[in-house]
Amino acid sequence: DWTPEHFIQSTVERVRAQVGDGHAICGLSGGVDSSVAAVLVAKAIGDKLTCIFVNNGVLRKDEFAKVQTTMREQLGLNVVAVDASERFLTKLAGVTDPETKRKVIGGEFISVFDDEAKKIFEAEKHDGKDVAWLVQGTLYPDVIESSSVHGPSHTIKSHHNVGGLPADMKLKLIEPLRDLFKDEVRRIGRDLGMPDDIIERQPFPGPGLAVRILGEVTAERVAILQEADQIVVDEIKRAGLYRKVWQSFAVLLPVKSVGVMGDQRTYANTCAIRAVESEDGMTADWAPLPYEVLRTISSRIVSEVRGINRVVYDITSKPPGTIEWE
Ligand code: XMP
Repeated sequence: DWTPEHFIQSTVERVRAQVGDGHAICGLSGGVDSSVAAVLVAKAIGDKLTCIFVNNGVLRKDEFAKVQTTMREQLGLNVVAVDASERFLTKLAGVTDPETKRKVIGGEFISVFDDEAKKIFEAEKHDGKDVAWLVQGTLYPDVIESSSVHGPSHTIKSHHNVGGLPADMKLKLIEPLRDLFKDEVRRIGRDLGMPDDIIERQPFPGPGLAVRILGEVTAERVAILQEADQIVVDEIKRAGLYRKVWQSFAVLLPVKSVGVMGDQRTYANTCAIRAVESEDGMTADWAPLPYEVLRTISSRIVSEVRGINRVVYDITSKPPGTIEWE
């Protein structure tokens, strides 16, 4: 029978035996999957795990600082943090196609990650050949949705948390969560004693806010969406709905409309609110959020976020929609 304790025990033993005298690195995103994978592996090999956390310029508001604190102070992980936001935003300039955004972010991530990995393995005096391991928090649905079994033309979206290893480094892969669904990963995290605010986090895509900013991603648009996103998360939590919905977030549309603020005419951006219920992200229903919650989110965004003067609610399920807009 599958139990979290049994899973943790057997994974820890296996990873410890695999890694031996080697060293492992792990990319942290701040989300549940990579954090649980890292804590699990750290339990097996301790200081022989170094985590890398990259600011790709499309994280949520204050996330780069907050995640570092949590991972170091609450989880005791060994974290190298790299602020590469300018590099990413420069590469994203002029890019509007969703899959191109993913490729740019995925490619840039690998290059930043690769540089850091080399430094870590050099410092560990390893040649990076037979003793270098890469930990990834890949889950079963990630494997399915990116599966080559269905052929590349049927890949739904190129999830960059599957595959995408630094090419010349010959890292061996440790994917301790590869057979699991999200709810199982959460049970394991809880069993590992990880705090609720990490375990309960809603999923957040690797390409971050870039796939929630339709059209070009600029520093200014990222800042606008960060403010709106923060309000959505706050209000959903305040209404006690954060754990009931699978994901809840704002999407910045490349659509301007006319509004009125005081006695001034405004002409500003539209933001869509998306909230869905789901078991595993593969299918999803739009969430029937209470009108009062929608009302508060809408009025707070329009009054507090400069640059947004209209809020709409997305009532599309998956399929035929996807959860993200890109
Ligand atoms: P969709 O939009 O395909 O999303 O219904 C299903 C789940 O996957 C997340 N998602 C991603 N995660 N890289 C990721 O790491 C990506 O490129 C990506 N695209 C979507 C999405 O947030 C949802 O939970």
